[in-house]
Amino acid sequence: MESTRKQLIELLDSQQGYISGQDLSKRLNISRTAVWKHMKELEKDGYEIEAVQRKGYRIVSSPNKVSENTLQWGLNTDWLGHNLQHFKEVTSTQEVVHQLAKQGKPHGTVVIADKQVQGKGRMSRNWDSPKGKGIWMSILLRPELLPYQAPQLTLLAATVLAEVIAEQSSIMPQIKWPNDLLINHKKVSGILTEMQAEQDQIQYVVLGIGINVNQTESDIPEELQHKASSLQVESQQHWSIQDTIQRILQQFERTYDQFMTDGFKAVKLKWEQFGYRIGEEVTISTMKKSWQARLVGIEPDGALLARDEKGKEEKLYSAEIHWGEDGYHAKQK
Ligand code: BTN
Repeated sequence: MESTRKQLIELLDSQQGYISGQDLSKRLNISRTAVWKHMKELEKDGYEIEAVQRKGYRIVSSPNKVSENTLQWGLNTDWLGHNLQHFKEVTSTQEVVHQLAKQGKPHGTVVIADKQVQGKGRMSRNWDSPKGKGIWMSILLRPELLPYQAPQLTLLAATVLAEVIAEQSSIMPQIKWPNDLLINHKKVSGILTEMQAEQDQIQYVVLGIGINVNQTESDIPEELQHKASSLQVESQQHWSIQDTIQRILQQFERTYDQFMTDGFKAVKLKWEQFGYRIGEEVTISTMKKSWQARLVGIEPDGALLARDEKGKEEKLYSAEIHWGEDGYHAKQK
């Protein structure tokens, strides 16, 4: 959205204090009356604007609603979300980003929707994405990584979500391998990473993030209530979707940049700090056998590392893990 409105918000945002009407009109190449009209429109949208004679304009606060403007106002990133598109309804933000990627849109493009009618989960599951209740967002990345390293991005994203949630509340999320976010043993968020790659080169990655934010208990289907929840239910507080998205994007950019310069080690450590059942014993079964092992951490290729009682370590990619909560177990792939 390269509209005058967007540029206006960016200019106001980049300024510490006031910016004069004359300055704005020059930089946007529109008349001062047009500047004034845009300000009135912003106010109608819920922006609080201060206009001071001989000083100019300043945004005091943005409305607490999700739009391209409000998401970009105050977004403190260098490359992530500078190209950001918000939709009221889409099939799936994954689909939209795949299309944008094919059109050549840049690294860091973000698509957010209030509602998805065909939200996609892992392993061809559906992902319930009711209107205005959660964060349904996909990020386009064009990383200089080898295809086998792509799972690291999913692990990285999970640590980012866990950190942002932990910072904003007193709840302690946990990451269930490979990438479910749990609070009090219930899933509140999932990540879906899809990749377009050649043998030795990633063309692009679409990293989809779904977070159940403000669903109340009754919004969650009864048959899922024993294993799914929302931030609101678990923290007993209402969450600002707009603010949470901004925090995620900011934290994601920082973590991603650090990962690109320093490698996977910091992500691995962070993931293991939040890791569900890490250090604990679980039952693992494959087609061939079933055994007890201690989960010890994750490997650079995204595998879960388990150590049996004899000290033998095994990397798990696809196994059934009996997580031990309510007898609930999930087949992991
Ligand atoms: C999972 O745990 O199964 C992954 C869920 C991923 C859901 C998100 S919501 C935004 C993006 N668009 C989709 O259709 N899916 C992902």
